[in-house]
Amino acid sequence: MAEEQSFVVTGANSFLGRAFAKMLSKNEDYKVFLTSRSKFNFNGLLKKKNVSYLPEIDLTVESDIEKLTAAINDFLPGKFHVINCLGYFPGYETIEETSIATAKNVFDSNVLALYSVANKLLPLMCKRKGGHFIGFSTHTSYQHYPRMVAFTAAKAAVESLIKGIANEYLDKGINANTIALATLLTEAELKIKPKGDSKNWLNTDEVCEFVENIILQPNKLISGNVIHIYKYSDSFFHQSYYDRIENK
Ligand SMILES: NC(=O)c1ccc[n+]([C@@H]2O[C@H](COP(=O)([O-])OP(=O)(O)OC[C@H]3O[C@@H](n4cnc5c(N)ncnc54)[C@H](OP(=O)(O)O)[C@@H]3O)[C@@H](O)[C@H]2O)c1
Repeated sequence: MAEEQSFVVTGANSFLGRAFAKMLSKNEDYKVFLTSRSKFNFNGLLKKKNVSYLPEIDLTVESDIEKLTAAINDFLPGKFHVINCLGYFPGYETIEETSIATAKNVFDSNVLALYSVANKLLPLMCKRKGGHFIGFSTHTSYQHYPRMVAFTAAKAAVESLIKGIANEYLDKGINANTIALATLLTEAELKIKPKGDSKNWLNTDEVCEFVENIILQPNKLISGNVIHIYKYSDSFFHQSYYDRIENK
């Protein structure tokens, strides 16, 4: 029998979070704890014995995260992994077009929420003697594309935060990695990038399988790394950025 594994998926109502919920809950050796800010029905998954769900948790609100920590403590008695699927991308805008309020939301959803989850869950992970902490960033953290600066800067901070977790907690048995994603094949991305090379975008299921493998085969030597995942795309390598995001 395979070893029992436990997972916490934050941002479970994201496209990627829903794919994790579906994939992980299929395996009866896994226990899966889902949480989201909104409320979602997860299409019947919530009836499964190996799944628990805590909706209406805003991960920038301390009392909500405390509620979440207590619920995880009750449902998952042993070691667990955290897959943090939160984020917020406001669309392609220059710095002056992106209001300060929007930039704040971008930082809150991508960075502050991740920091807060780490702040409250790492002590519990240490008590349980380990686990893997996963965050998601994006290629633009390296390319620094124009018209998405707030998101880029926030995801650079995500990578820095995850490296910090790796350095502070490696001796406690905790691994931490960032997965830097190319565009995910989702309805939302198809709407904002209608001219994108969507046949070569990442399928959420393949991202989930990749992350599951990293978690199941932890390697201390790569803890703290940013792992880029993408497919070859002719237009990505041969067309200008502006042509690719043009909506005409
Ligand atoms: N989509 C892409 O092409 C792409 C590319 C690169 C990186 N990524 C990253 O990959 C991850 C998944 O992407 P996705 O497209 O599946 O995400 P998504 O559908 O845009 O969903 C993001 C989720 O974040 C949650 N969220 C935001 N702020 C929150 C808060 N304060 N507390 C609790 N939840 C909060 C939202 O929750 P509610 O819906 O419950 O309000 C939302 O479901 C994200 O980190 C994203 O930045 C995505």
